[in-house]
Amino acid sequence: MAFTVGEVLRRARDALRDADIDGAALDARLLVAASLAIDPSRLPLESDRAVSDADLARAMALIDRRARREPVGRILGTREFWGLSFRLSPETLEPRPDTETLIEAVLSWLDAAGRRHDRLSIADIGTGSGAILVALLSECPQALGIGTDLSQAALQTARDNAARAGVGDRALFARMDHGDALGGGLDLVLSNPPYIRHDDLAGLAPEVRWFDPRLALDGGPDGLRSYRHIAATVGATLRPGGMVMVEVGADQAGDVEEIFRATGFEFAFRRRDLGGHDRVVAMQHHVV
Ligand SMILES: C[S@@+](CC[C@H](N)C(=O)[O-])C[C@H]1O[C@@H](n2cnc3c(N)ncnc32)[C@H](O)[C@@H]1O
Repeated sequence: MAFTVGEVLRRARDALRDADIDGAALDARLLVAASLAIDPSRLPLESDRAVSDADLARAMALIDRRARREPVGRILGTREFWGLSFRLSPETLEPRPDTETLIEAVLSWLDAAGRRHDRLSIADIGTGSGAILVALLSECPQALGIGTDLSQAALQTARDNAARAGVGDRALFARMDHGDALGGGLDLVLSNPPYIRHDDLAGLAPEVRWFDPRLALDGGPDGLRSYRHIAATVGATLRPGGMVMVEVGADQAGDVEEIFRATGFEFAFRRRDLGGHDRVVAMQHHVV
């Protein structure tokens, strides 16, 4: 007897609930829709449609991966960020909604200064999937950008994502330690560096611990290693008055500001995420 779409959906949702997956109903919808090649918004309309045994097996294979804690984005191979679709690879972090706070911060700062349409030069240190740089280039039509990473595989994924978003002709991706080989004259340096304290890695949810790359997470003993490196080296790459904006962990804003102040930057502003945590710290290079 053939199952209907509605029955497959219920079965999928129940399997994820039994596996204690948060957001079981939403994840079931996304995975069943993808395996049946239906837009998720159309699932209720297709509820009575019969599903072949092969489609049922494909849907339940995806549900089984999610039950074993693989995130939906990893299973589908793409993740949405700032309204754009980003391909993922094992070497890239899944971009997070919190990181959209950094995009909002940059755009409000540019808009307040009337600079969104300027020919800006932007660097994104630790670019991963390219999410930050690609989102900004899509919003700033004249800007040019460079994304850096230690992982060659991540850089290749970022290049693909820039091309997919139609900004590949304004983006370069280069392997280096943080921003160490960047040239000078940048207007804006952005980073969402690895900032988890080393000892906290073991307590992360399996979705993160097992599936996000360690290089993208481990911020050293106090989680601040990358901020120190960037603060010590990035001044030489910025124009006078240029800005560094970094994403920070929920309790790191004060420490990160101190690190940048100690290398001659001035505090510009903080920005909170939707959960009310200070998520972005903006520091300005010496104004002349
Ligand atoms: C938290 S992830 C951020 C990825 C992406 N920017 C985002 O926001 O989704 C940190 C990134 O920094 C990269 N990374 C780690 N150590 C680095 C280093 N020493 N130099 C350059 N990139 C590094 C990782 O490979 C990873 O892609």
